[in-house]
Amino acid sequence: MPDLFTPLSLGDYTLKNRVVMAPLSRSRANSNGVPQPISAQYYRQRASAGLIIAEATATSPTGRGWINGPGIYTREQIAGWQQISEEVHRDEGVIFVQLWHMGAAVHPDFLGGNKPVSASQITLEGTLPTPIGRDRPFKQARSLSKTEIRKIIAEFAQAVKNAIAAGLDGIELHAANSFLIDQFTRDGSNLRTDEYGGSIDNRLRFLSEVTDAVCDAIGSGKVGIRLSPSNEIWQVKDSQYRDTYARAVELLNPLDLAYLHLLEPRPDSGHDIQTIDYQTPDLRQIYNGILISNGGHSAASAKQMILNGGSDAVSFGKPFIANPDLVERFRHGWPLNIGNRSTYYTNGPEGYIDYPTFTAEASSPV
Ligand SMILES: Cc1cc2nc3c(=O)[nH]c(=O)nc-3n(C[C@H](O)[C@H](O)[C@H](O)COP(=O)(O)O)c2cc1C
Repeated sequence: MPDLFTPLSLGDYTLKNRVVMAPLSRSRANSNGVPQPISAQYYRQRASAGLIIAEATATSPTGRGWINGPGIYTREQIAGWQQISEEVHRDEGVIFVQLWHMGAAVHPDFLGGNKPVSASQITLEGTLPTPIGRDRPFKQARSLSKTEIRKIIAEFAQAVKNAIAAGLDGIELHAANSFLIDQFTRDGSNLRTDEYGGSIDNRLRFLSEVTDAVCDAIGSGKVGIRLSPSNEIWQVKDSQYRDTYARAVELLNPLDLAYLHLLEPRPDSGHDIQTIDYQTPDLRQIYNGILISNGGHSAASAKQMILNGGSDAVSFGKPFIANPDLVERFRHGWPLNIGNRSTYYTNGPEGYIDYPTFTAEASSPV
């Protein structure tokens, strides 16, 4: 029976264990989206993960709306990623990068005052920080033309080639959490009447075309995808999300992707654990490939999940922020550090590269 430390064959790779680092935006790139040397150090510290999925990274300027979030479309950004992949490979880590276009979640402050783009003319409910202010309310997006859709898909295809050129091992498509791909998928945000809107298959057309394009560009063994069926961030809803995501998974099956990564709402994020509508058990039945589950796991729940066949691997977000040696801590049953939320998104080393390993902690003088 596999456990957390059993190797796993995933796409083109064999992972040394099943403890995956979930993508974590940490806002440590520079204002042009160039990853800095500090991020190479941060990721190398975590190279004992079976797989690192690096933070959400923009495929084009129109999709980048996260303050100090990285991109992978300029020469400088690609060089920044190259440093990260080299450092992680020094310790024999495997690293994919998550790719996103934020769609309607890009504030015009990032776009020289221009409107963001999305499936339809929608306004997300919420705020994000921008270079102008901390809580900037989203503005109305405009609907993409079909020519523009083709351009965005081509940008994804170029971005995955850039990722491989930078020495990264693969990519994860961010089709979760209400960003552009999700905005196309859900009927609350996709109001189109052309072949990209209406029926479930039409709404999934964008996801399918992006996935096909990136698989054609680098091969499906280097491509994973992340979905979050029951998350409704910023009121991006789908009236029949069970059916929509069941169909999405059916459509992904023949592509033979490296993995499917499912994010469930987090018990600690204001959701009542009793009312979370967990989708992973049903989607596990539908999906033929490697499944990574995520959301509020401990070592014990992850072990149970893998032992019961609920997923093949488990990813951890917050635990990896505060525990660079999370795998060793799990292996030995050592206690975990708790991360400091106030430094999740601050620019600089504090709360980023200064969390100690357990052995460093144990040997430091009291
Ligand atoms: C600081 C922070 C940044 C995050 N950034 C991303 C991201 O870039 N992409 C993404 O898909 N999820 C992101 N997430 C969600 C995590 O990947 C993960 O799904 C979530 O933390 C739940 O897992 P956990 O309970 O193990 O922390 C982020 C979460 C946190 C706390």
